Amino acid sequence: MHDSIIVTGGAGFIGSNFVCQWIDGGGSQVINLDKLTYAGNPGNLAELDGNDRHLFVRGDICDRAVVKELFSNYRPRAVVHFAAESHVDRSILGPEEFIQTNVFGTFTLLEEALSYCRTLDASEQDRFRFLHVSTDEVYGSLGSGNPAFSEQTPYSPNSPYSASKAGSDHLVRAYHHTYGLKTLTTNCSNNYGPFQFPEKLIPLIISNALAGKPLPIYGDGQNVRDWLFVVDHCEAIRVVLEKGRPGETYNIGGNNEKTNLQVVETVCSLLDELRPNPAAGSYRSLITFVKDRPGHDRRYAIDAGKIAQELAWHPRETFETGMRKAVEWYLANQAWTQQILSGDYKHWIEKQYGSTPRQRAKL
Ligand code: NAD
Ligand code: DAU
Repeated sequence: MHDSIIVTGGAGFIGSNFVCQWIDGGGSQVINLDKLTYAGNPGNLAELDGNDRHLFVRGDICDRAVVKELFSNYRPRAVVHFAAESHVDRSILGPEEFIQTNVFGTFTLLEEALSYCRTLDASEQDRFRFLHVSTDEVYGSLGSGNPAFSEQTPYSPNSPYSASKAGSDHLVRAYHHTYGLKTLTTNCSNNYGPFQFPEKLIPLIISNALAGKPLPIYGDGQNVRDWLFVVDHCEAIRVVLEKGRPGETYNIGGNNEKTNLQVVETVCSLLDELRPNPAAGSYRSLITFVKDRPGHDRRYAIDAGKIAQELAWHPRETFETGMRKAVEWYLANQAWTQQILSGDYKHWIEKQYGSTPRQRAKL
């Protein structure tokens, strides 16, 4: 077994932040397996161009042959599994891809991880880790007076996305209990920060505001989410990977419960300060209430006491410091957003990698 790790979905929002942080922090070689769906963007990894500790492989986690080859060629000490269809609204419009990637893809990875582990000696098997990155959405929706989600909260997923993630969490659990695979599961709240695909709330609001377009808020804007700066999430994953107890799950959150309206107003205030537009007035004037998301969960809140007590992880950013960093990043990187919105980067991917998901950059 080598010191390298396989990361899946490492060209997406959280995965690319994780890979860059891992390599910046002196981490071992990363084999980055990503299908480059609409949400995957090799540009997120531009700072690693030419770095031989990062090996990008374009491929599908559902493709057993590719996954098998990666395990046998690179003999990693861990898998950190981000790859997923991640957008609730897309899962409502078309759930099939969510079942395929989130459930069947996770199953494929588990099967191949197990088969690889069986080739390892006992001490290597003991050292191997399969870290599954999941979401707080598997716990369902809270009322305003309910306690925050703990690791004991029963699963109650409400959208095709959260149901598919719940399915994958159960498979991971089963592979630990049945086969002894050394798994770890993290369930995290809403992330924000650099490289988030611009159809998710915060980057969407920033790009619409800068373009003078309406800022759509679903329903009455009183749905509550707990927000965590993506860099803090990535650090929590590293801590769980190194110190978490196999078979356990860890909730990760930012202690920042906010209504969607509060989030959008915070973005507007920061933009009013950092990119004022006196002729148009405050960006708040663009706020528009629109039709609600079907089955929209009312409130998520995370009790992150277990990871704090057992692994001494705490978020570094407050909502105020993290949101300022995020808005500053989007202002400084408008070309990144524009490239996605214009479709340019998709054309580049097709030229670079071809249009079939099995085509690989390197293997
Ligand atoms: P994202 O949509 O930005 O990125 C997903 C990545 O996975 C993309 O690069 C995509 O190309 C890749 N991918 C999709 N299907 C694939 C397949 N079949 N094979 C290989 N690669 C594939 O997602 P994100 O927001 O970075 O989320 C990453 C993980 O974290 C997901 O598992 C998600 O459920 C979980 N999560 C996200 C949040 C959040 O707020 N964004 C919070 C908690 C947990
Ligand atoms: O809780 C963790 C989850 O957070 C992750 O598992 C998901 O992968 C991630 O996408 C995110 O899910 P949400 O549905 O909470 O994120 P989204 O950015 O789509 O929406 C955040 C909230 O804002 C939600 O209550 C819906 C609302 N919203 C969203 C959009 C896109 C709006 O009011 N207007 C919008 O235009």
